[in-house]
Amino acid sequence: MTDQYAVIGNPVAHSLSPQIHAQFARATGQDLAYGRILAPREGFRDAVLAFRAAGGKGLNVTLPFKHEAWRVAGVRSGFALAAGAVNTLSFEGGSIVGHNTDGIGLVRDLTQNLRAGIRGKRVLLMGAGGASYGVMEPLLREQPESVVVANRTLEKAVELVGYFEKLQSCALQGFSARAYGALAGTQYDIVINATSAGLEGAMPPLPEEILAPGALAYDMVYARRTPFLDFAQARGARFADGLGMLVEQAAESFDIWRGVRPETAPVIRALRQKAEE
Ligand code: ATR
Repeated sequence: MTDQYAVIGNPVAHSLSPQIHAQFARATGQDLAYGRILAPREGFRDAVLAFRAAGGKGLNVTLPFKHEAWRVAGVRSGFALAAGAVNTLSFEGGSIVGHNTDGIGLVRDLTQNLRAGIRGKRVLLMGAGGASYGVMEPLLREQPESVVVANRTLEKAVELVGYFEKLQSCALQGFSARAYGALAGTQYDIVINATSAGLEGAMPPLPEEILAPGALAYDMVYARRTPFLDFAQARGARFADGLGMLVEQAAESFDIWRGVRPETAPVIRALRQKAEE
């Protein structure tokens, strides 16, 4: 019988994951089917258990269920532990194992696809919500020179930095929290937008000179042009949306489930082409 996987969320109709995993499966010759599950807001756990009972092998979890998936997972592996959020569930024997592949996806997109090494760089991460928690540990492990977390609500950035500072794997000298207003006069080599501001056509209030010469501006939002990327382009900086991260996190999930790492470049190319049509 063909192994069954799906992405579960609310809403979920817009998700590109079925397309991505179908392409991975074709390219690697894996026999699997990948669908979509729209779970009621209060019905996430039941939907997961029903899918597993019907023989499902694994799920990708999207908004708003990533925190709940962390609680549903009986075992949390690797980066999921600290992130407090799970985007991949695998059903192994009697256990529901939770993983978080978002941070690895971001790091791979930056370092391999965009050739923006993180080691020794000054990184500014905007936002202190779930998206930031999800990527923090893999980002810090790349040993940037510094990571500043800026957030509209400063206390949340302070809390995030405090939380990761306590983890052995996240020890970094220049790890700090700032309000946007306190960024004046500072510059960064990689500026990552992990806020949801772009979804409302807004952007955090960045000072004019925030992008160092040669900087990369990265927005985790994909499939739409955000004011932050317009800001970067207007200043002649390199910029990228989160499509590459989406495909890379999917490749990591695929590897967890199937033990095979698919090539990502052809999938990213195909999705970009489709988006431009
Ligand atoms: P997610 O799980 O996607 O990170 P979230 O937990 O709701 O979503 O967090 C959204 C993040 O985007 C927060 O850091 C939020 O800032 P606040 O903590 O101050 O709310 C940030 N954000 C949303 N809209 C924003 C805007 N217009 N300007 C700046 N930051 C914004």
